[in-house]
Amino acid sequence: MAEVVIVDHREQAGELAAHAIRSLIEQQPDAVLGLATGSTPLPVYQALARSLEANPLDVSAVRGFALDEYVGLPEGHPESYRAVITREVVEPLGLTPSLVHLPGYNSPAIETAGANYERDITDAGGIDLQILGIGSTGHIGFNEPGSSFASLTRIKTLTEQTRQDNARFFDSIDDVPRHCLTQGLGTILRARHLVLLAFGEGKADAIAAAVEGPLTASQPGSAIQLHPHVTVLVDEAAASKLQNADYYRYTWANRPDWQTI
Ligand code: PGA
Repeated sequence: MAEVVIVDHREQAGELAAHAIRSLIEQQPDAVLGLATGSTPLPVYQALARSLEANPLDVSAVRGFALDEYVGLPEGHPESYRAVITREVVEPLGLTPSLVHLPGYNSPAIETAGANYERDITDAGGIDLQILGIGSTGHIGFNEPGSSFASLTRIKTLTEQTRQDNARFFDSIDDVPRHCLTQGLGTILRARHLVLLAFGEGKADAIAAAVEGPLTASQPGSAIQLHPHVTVLVDEAAASKLQNADYYRYTWANRPDWQTI
């Protein structure tokens, strides 16, 4: 079962996740992070940047693999995930840019991009900690409903709902790409620790389906139930449709002193 932690505010979730990432890097200076984009993970990166500023740590050997990237944006577009990851993660944390990769980075041909990305993740020794958001469609990464639990990095078509959800980052919905490259659910399940975050009422159904619903490709987030080490960090609104919320609160309140996420 996933460990579900219901927090009062998103900054608290950011600090818990940042603490887990910092501890990992302290133990393993060349840790491999799986990086998510969107609004949800920002408190994690911000808390980690604050922690590194207050108490410096050498992060120059940390490696990163982004979950996904749009296909079809002009090179250097500010909403490409390469630009977003550079702006929100690499620069504020002081990571080494050449060690942080996005799907498609090493493959001019879209047909081979997925296989090349998988090879590079494997060559890096796999992802130690994967940060995840969840879409209102239930997607993790850009694995929209119907994605195979065994899927690996590949091209996908975004749902109209996801394009609408992401239109806030663009001048108009017409500018939101229709395609992406995304790690598959199978790729995500190979990471050693999944940290899924969600905030706000708009995520309540997707979180309930991911944590408590039946395993189904129609709710890609439910794939997390197959993973042995998952932490779900949610605010009250995103937790509002969880049937076992009281048990999760009880579990967290009574966790042993030695237990971290
Ligand atoms: P959001 O996106 O964090 O911007 O809500 C989450 C997702 O689509 O996975």
